[in-house]
Amino acid sequence: MGSGNSKSISSDGTGEGGYSSGGGGGQLYVSVKLESFNLKPLLVPHVYGSVPVIGSWESSQALAMKRESNSTWELSFVLPENHETLDFKFLLKSKNENDPFVVEEGACRLLERGKLEEESRIALFRMNEEVLEYRVVISAVKISPFDLAISWRTFQDNLKPSTTRRIPDVSIDSAPDMETVNGSAAMLDFDLEQYEVPTPPSVISSVTYPAQLTETPSSLASQTELSEIVPHVSNDASMVSTGRYTTQHSIDEMAPYSSTEVFNSKKLGTISSSPFQFDRGLLYVDRGVGSPMLSRSASESTVSNMIRLDSKSKKAMPAASGAVAAGAIADRMIGPKENQKLAIVMVGLPARGKTFTATKLTRYLRWLGHATKHFNIGKYRRLKHGANQPADFFRADNPEGIEARNEVAKLAMEDMLSWMQEGGQVGVFDATNSSRKRRNMLMKMGEGKCKIIFLETLCNDESILERNILLKIQQSPDYAEQENTQAALQDFKSRLANYEKAYEPVEEGSYIKMIDMVSGHGGQIQVNNISGYLPGRIVFFLVNTHLTPRPILLTRHGESRDNVRGRIGGDPALSEKGELYAKKLANFLEKRLQAERTASIWTSTLQRTVLTAGPVIGIPKIQWRALDEINAGVCEGMTYEEINKNMPEEYASRKSDKLSYRYPRGESYLDVIQRLEPVMIELERQRAPLVVISHQAVLRALYGYFADKPLEEIPYIDVPLHTIIEIQMGVSGVQEKRYKLMD
Ligand code: F6P
Repeated sequence: MGSGNSKSISSDGTGEGGYSSGGGGGQLYVSVKLESFNLKPLLVPHVYGSVPVIGSWESSQALAMKRESNSTWELSFVLPENHETLDFKFLLKSKNENDPFVVEEGACRLLERGKLEEESRIALFRMNEEVLEYRVVISAVKISPFDLAISWRTFQDNLKPSTTRRIPDVSIDSAPDMETVNGSAAMLDFDLEQYEVPTPPSVISSVTYPAQLTETPSSLASQTELSEIVPHVSNDASMVSTGRYTTQHSIDEMAPYSSTEVFNSKKLGTISSSPFQFDRGLLYVDRGVGSPMLSRSASESTVSNMIRLDSKSKKAMPAASGAVAAGAIADRMIGPKENQKLAIVMVGLPARGKTFTATKLTRYLRWLGHATKHFNIGKYRRLKHGANQPADFFRADNPEGIEARNEVAKLAMEDMLSWMQEGGQVGVFDATNSSRKRRNMLMKMGEGKCKIIFLETLCNDESILERNILLKIQQSPDYAEQENTQAALQDFKSRLANYEKAYEPVEEGSYIKMIDMVSGHGGQIQVNNISGYLPGRIVFFLVNTHLTPRPILLTRHGESRDNVRGRIGGDPALSEKGELYAKKLANFLEKRLQAERTASIWTSTLQRTVLTAGPVIGIPKIQWRALDEINAGVCEGMTYEEINKNMPEEYASRKSDKLSYRYPRGESYLDVIQRLEPVMIELERQRAPLVVISHQAVLRALYGYFADKPLEEIPYIDVPLHTIIEIQMGVSGVQEKRYKLMD
């Protein structure tokens, strides 16, 4: 190489390139992939070229590609649209430093305007007797510097990259890294990635605009449409949006699409993964501002068609337990009737983190067993009036716009109140609600039906605002069709200014004000006229929660001697295999956490978790009693067969209701969730990475929280041994990766 096989080209148009049209001077996001179904994980493909590419390869150094999947390696970089013709080649480098590298056969590859000459040429490597073949795939998209900046920001904030706004993940190495070239950094990535396994279907979603996952506007959809909408609120066919707490079906009954009672459309699976389609065409009812309201009274709410209350859910208490149940019952006995239902009405200017806060609060309350739903009024607005209303629509002196926005707020409030009548407990009403008049309207509607607490989010931190604004235009369906990012930004800022002019902070009723709380550093929380068990818990949760991204690694202990014998509970030591996992885990954590300043390991007090953490050095370890395995009471130390044989009734009871079944003198899953609440609050509060080494039932409960699983599914979640589940909580919600270190 190094022949200088490059030439300048003029930027006289883009039509023939591998990207969309436009003039010169822009940026090209280029992704090069090598694909092979016979991939050799120990051979890392590299790229080297004679002309350096900033942020990518250097003329004298090969750059490692990243493992993208079981069959693909990828390298992405950004080039000026009118870049020089670049020549490069692939080479394979063994993990073993002493092995020679192998350069691909044939001439250099030429990249011109994002397009590869001889694109279909296979990359051939001759290694002794063996010939390895890789398919070469290249794609290039034109992007604006704005999109690039947003993508980069999102890439930093997220564990998984966002693809919402045309560009896939943008991962730029700001400068060529010497370590990468001589092998160590590349090998490190490689080491971790080789253990990565696909997340099971229906686990935590990739980056999705949180408002899209909120309650389906039932008042704006017809019966037939509802069957199509349902899956949009969940990535999981077994997650039922309405009455998540109420459905008590066993997991077998909830097999995807089998329950005609809840899901009556086979279309579920095909449209569930793309929530944006929902707003983009399927279900617009009406795009006209000020059009007549759809006639529908609260009593005829279509919600009832979606809620399928079974005998258990009709009980006075939902699936809550212990203090949660006791607190709620106490509130019912002493409070007025309206206090049985709680409406958390969000207040705040756009981009103040209302939807994120509402989403988190909803997840937390559901996990504790409270029937909670999140009603996002933006979603109603988009359905009723279309997604691309200009900033003028939001002007305070535009009577038509105000009328249209109040109309959807009213519809959503009616839906929420109807749902409460059907058994719902807490409604989170997510809109700006930024004028006293609007709030008065809501208070009037809720009179005698629910207690209203305003939750106002205020943010004075310019950098957080800027981030929120960028995320908004990147992810919100309001701007999905606006290709020009600067125009989107301009429009959103005008919208913001329109709201600011008319903004009236909350000074009335019961309220919680969160001032600069998002970062988790300092901030202020003000409460006024708040009392009762649930409002108290909500305040406590809000004080502790924040949106600073950090990884949480969940793993079961290594295989125990009782695992081998099939015995439950007890306090056994590790098997030989379990000891090996402990060593592998230590190695994994050393690599995974080496870039982190601080981290800690939480274990239970049982020796199988403490021993699993044993080989890890340099990270503080904390034992929590609350992380101990579910207490199987009189069944501790038995196998499932023995329980079935000796206590068939107990066995059958557990089988019929695994969530609430309590072992004699032991615990139920609901008990476990309740005792985990302080752990969860602490998990929310921490800003440094955390490793939790615990047990099957406990990890099911914790994972169920992050994945926002209905309680009924928690006892059946698959948490395999010798696997690390990495959860990333950040501004774009919760994301997941899995690493399997051994069988
Ligand atoms: O079998 C391992 C184990 O951790 C037991 O100690 C515990 O009782 C059980 O898993 C919990 O799983 P399940 O709720 O499915 O019985």
